[in-house]
Amino acid sequence: MDKQKQVLILPGDGIGPEVCDEAKKVLIHVNQSHDLNISIEESLVGGKAFEETGKPLPDDTLNAAKKSDAVLLGAVGGPTWDDLDYHLRPERALLGLRAELDLFANLRPAILSKHLADSSSLKPEKVLNLDLLIIRELTGGIYFGEPRGRSENKESAFNTMIYSKNEIERIGRVAFEAAQKRNKTLCSVDKANVLEVSVLWREVMTELSKDYPDVELSHMLVDNAAMQLVRDPKQFDVMVTGNLFGDILSDIAAMLTGSIGMLPSASLNSDNTGMYEPVHGSAPDIAGKGLANPIAAILSVAMMLKYSFDAKEASLAIENSIEEVLSEGFRTHDLEGPQDSKLSTSQMGNKIIEKLN
Ligand code: IPM
Ligand code: MG
Repeated sequence: MDKQKQVLILPGDGIGPEVCDEAKKVLIHVNQSHDLNISIEESLVGGKAFEETGKPLPDDTLNAAKKSDAVLLGAVGGPTWDDLDYHLRPERALLGLRAELDLFANLRPAILSKHLADSSSLKPEKVLNLDLLIIRELTGGIYFGEPRGRSENKESAFNTMIYSKNEIERIGRVAFEAAQKRNKTLCSVDKANVLEVSVLWREVMTELSKDYPDVELSHMLVDNAAMQLVRDPKQFDVMVTGNLFGDILSDIAAMLTGSIGMLPSASLNSDNTGMYEPVHGSAPDIAGKGLANPIAAILSVAMMLKYSFDAKEASLAIENSIEEVLSEGFRTHDLEGPQDSKLSTSQMGNKIIEKLN
């Protein structure tokens, strides 16, 4: 048995706790069945943490995250906290964790299960076998650039979109390496017809491509990329882009797969220590009703096992169980299907575990 690994679960707000409960059940299950020697801890984050401690990212949570080998985060935010000061908002916890753990590489796969082609917002033939990986730079760009703020007279506000060569290069390398393991094509997305920061982005990606002669690099402007994702998503294999563009494009890609409730993500630093989260948010409107789809959170556990713990078999077992459940026609409420195919959040979790057995 390997050395003990510590996983920190941060359920957070809205549907976060519900989907994390199911993900945790799956993690506990594969931990036993695959002898992974993982121990699990939980901590507060987001609005919930603000209520209890006055801070969206309490020091205890941050320290626990720094000490653990991987973090699973549910979701943060909700209307309760909309009027809070910007630095107290639940979203700051997420941004704080990303920055403090240096999780610069965000991997957002958009894979369509063949059983869900009818759930996509595009015609089934446009998305059948879709398997796309969006790599989003996560600790730089306009999300973190300084200066930022409000002018003194409050009549204007500003953020700074800034990238250094180093920041572009390190996310570029992650993307080229991912492309090498897949179809060997990489599309870099920017806005180089308008933004200086994108001109630098394009220069660095082009320069970097000399180190990866087996990968075919292309560049695309972000507005066109948004359109192409909806027109013909299967033209893409790996896409790499900055923080803000990646935020937007990954939501578009998510919808192609039928529901944002299906998509996991991994945010990694240079040691592959990572934070894993469903791409969806806290969905306060359906929270606590058993309507949420736990698959994105469960697939996030599968990504954790693969990327942080090199436990490929356990990871694949989870993915296969989910496919099996979907192939039998079971759905959650976000997915299209007859009413009698619909399972609650915990019923879906239990079905997936049943298949793992
Ligand atoms: C995401 C979310 C976050 C982001 C928000 C909640 C801060 O939309 O992870 O995509 O913008 O990065
Ligand atoms: Mg987003």
